[in-house]
Amino acid sequence: MIPYGKQHISDPDIQAVIDVLKSEFLTTGPNVEVFERKVAQYCGAKHGIAVSNGTAALHVAALALGIGEGHHGITSPNTFVASANCLAYCRAEPDFADIDHEIYCVDPSELERRITSRTKVLIPVHFAGHPCDMKAIWEIAEKHHLFVIEDAAHALGSAYQDKTGDWVKVGSCTHSHLTTFSFHPVKTITTGEGGMIMTNDDELDRKCRLIRNHGIERESSLFKGIPLKGGSDEPWYYEMQDLGFNYRLTDIQCALGSNQMNRLDEIIEKRRSLWRKYNQALKDIDKLTVPAERDWAFSAWHLYVATTVHRNDLLKELRQSGIGAHAMYIPVHLQPWYRRNFGFKVGDFPVSESYFDKCLVLPLHPDITEDEQEFIIESVKQFFRKI
Ligand SMILES: Cc1ncc(COP(=O)(O)O)c(C=O)c1O
Repeated sequence: MIPYGKQHISDPDIQAVIDVLKSEFLTTGPNVEVFERKVAQYCGAKHGIAVSNGTAALHVAALALGIGEGHHGITSPNTFVASANCLAYCRAEPDFADIDHEIYCVDPSELERRITSRTKVLIPVHFAGHPCDMKAIWEIAEKHHLFVIEDAAHALGSAYQDKTGDWVKVGSCTHSHLTTFSFHPVKTITTGEGGMIMTNDDELDRKCRLIRNHGIERESSLFKGIPLKGGSDEPWYYEMQDLGFNYRLTDIQCALGSNQMNRLDEIIEKRRSLWRKYNQALKDIDKLTVPAERDWAFSAWHLYVATTVHRNDLLKELRQSGIGAHAMYIPVHLQPWYRRNFGFKVGDFPVSESYFDKCLVLPLHPDITEDEQEFIIESVKQFFRKI
């Protein structure tokens, strides 16, 4: 089966991991900061906080903003469940806003329509790597005094034009308080499991670091004091100032991530050339819609998603031929847990639901060969010739 997504591991990646295994620190060592700095510099953000996965990144981001009971947050139904679950983890109420019918990201006007007096945070998801309309979302957030967390699990290396026409990278937090990435193996770069939170805000950076590590503070100027003998000026002293987690990312994983960052632009160009070739070959099939890129956007194309009313038959046929085509995402509001706990039902977000009935994810990752892509294209064409 040609998988829809897969990690791309080079010999220098393997060597970087071996070097850490032979070094003093397997975790909380120097590689963590190197990786954080590399991603922050690449995106143009002040801070990067490496965490154990993209779900943890979203959880930490929501906690750092003080999201909690009685609050309400809005994300896209067309996403992996983690984008909404982070709200539930904080005992806040998840809600959704329907998507744009061309780029399948949350539609800013729908987002604004769902805002209530309890809404605290908007969580736009850069679906498939295509950036959301962040200028419009930021305007809405400012108007209603809301926080914004960009879920950029799909979009490391994606970019868009800001209001001056300059290109800004997703992760620069130009139009958000925090941005989160995932480094799961199918993502643009990988650390096995892994994630990162980006921010330009020093206080949010501090809070994220605290939450990532059990809420433990080691910076003496920030100590609150513990009523016991034993000095806060001792090197072993620490204070747990908040309830946090062990969401740390190891040095082994950070070394892999750092090394992968060295060829991020190369990986993105390969993904974009696969996207261009698919689009060129499939755009004239009238029963199929190929993924478009808005002229203000640059997508790192995490996924190649076409849509067709013949999705189920096509998907079945492709899988029978050894092509790991997929359908994603099942709209989150229709998942049993969301229906049971929040009363969502079929028809609540019709664009997402209709998108899901038609979406077809074709394999897209740097290891796909020319022959494999030709075979996939020919298989799709052959299906439409027959119907
Ligand atoms: C949009 C989105 N957000 C969040 C996540 C969670 O990332 P992770 O699997 O690293 O926890 C994913 C993972 O697939 C995702 O696709």
